[in-house]
Amino acid sequence: MLLKELVERCRSYRRFDEAHRLTKEDLVELVSLARLAASAGNLQPLKYFLSWEDKTNRLIFPTLHWAAYLKDWPGPAEGERPAAYIVVLGDRNIAQVFGVDAGIASQNILLGAVEKGLGGCIIGSVDRDDLRKALDIPQHLEILHVIALGKPAEKVVIEDLPPGGDIRYWRDENGVHHVPKRTLSELIINL
Ligand SMILES: Cc1cc2nc3c(=O)[nH]c(=O)nc-3n(C[C@H](O)[C@H](O)[C@H](O)COP(=O)(O)O)c2cc1C
Repeated sequence: MLLKELVERCRSYRRFDEAHRLTKEDLVELVSLARLAASAGNLQPLKYFLSWEDKTNRLIFPTLHWAAYLKDWPGPAEGERPAAYIVVLGDRNIAQVFGVDAGIASQNILLGAVEKGLGGCIIGSVDRDDLRKALDIPQHLEILHVIALGKPAEKVVIEDLPPGGDIRYWRDENGVHHVPKRTLSELIINL
């Protein structure tokens, strides 16, 4: 797949074929892509917790909040939940801020997932105290976000956002998820 196609397919997917399992090796491979990402001062302060088994997946799922704009949708039902998660952590013994590093590393993970025919969603809305307790994550590791992963079981389409239009994503009567994106002429200030 060319990069453009990878990026176009690299959408936020929130419904999966949960029966399609991921292995520990799949997740390690994805983190091997995150490992190569740029890092401010080359500090490389990110750490990762991998979850691919039902036992830990069930601990993580209830701490996540899905698709705030889809008011009538409580999140993925049993059978369409993520098959795996990567919890992205910032090691405070190494750095105090992790913002750009975490974004680049996470995008590498998501692109790697798409290349494998998988997909995912970055979840920033996390009950962090509950997740820390559930997974016994040490205090010096800040929970930055969770990447939910699996075999996508939904169609996501991108559309141009008209000037002054609504940025909220929405789902149509066929379950297709629509994501409005601002046009290049709005993004590039000197086009
Ligand atoms: C930092 C960050 C945090 C996000 N947090 C959530 C979240 O808590 N829950 C959720 O369902 N989606 C979350 N998303 C996914 C966004 O809603 C999604 O990227 C946006 O709707 C655009 O869709 P796209 O990724 O398919 O382009 C997050 C994305 C990013 C980059």
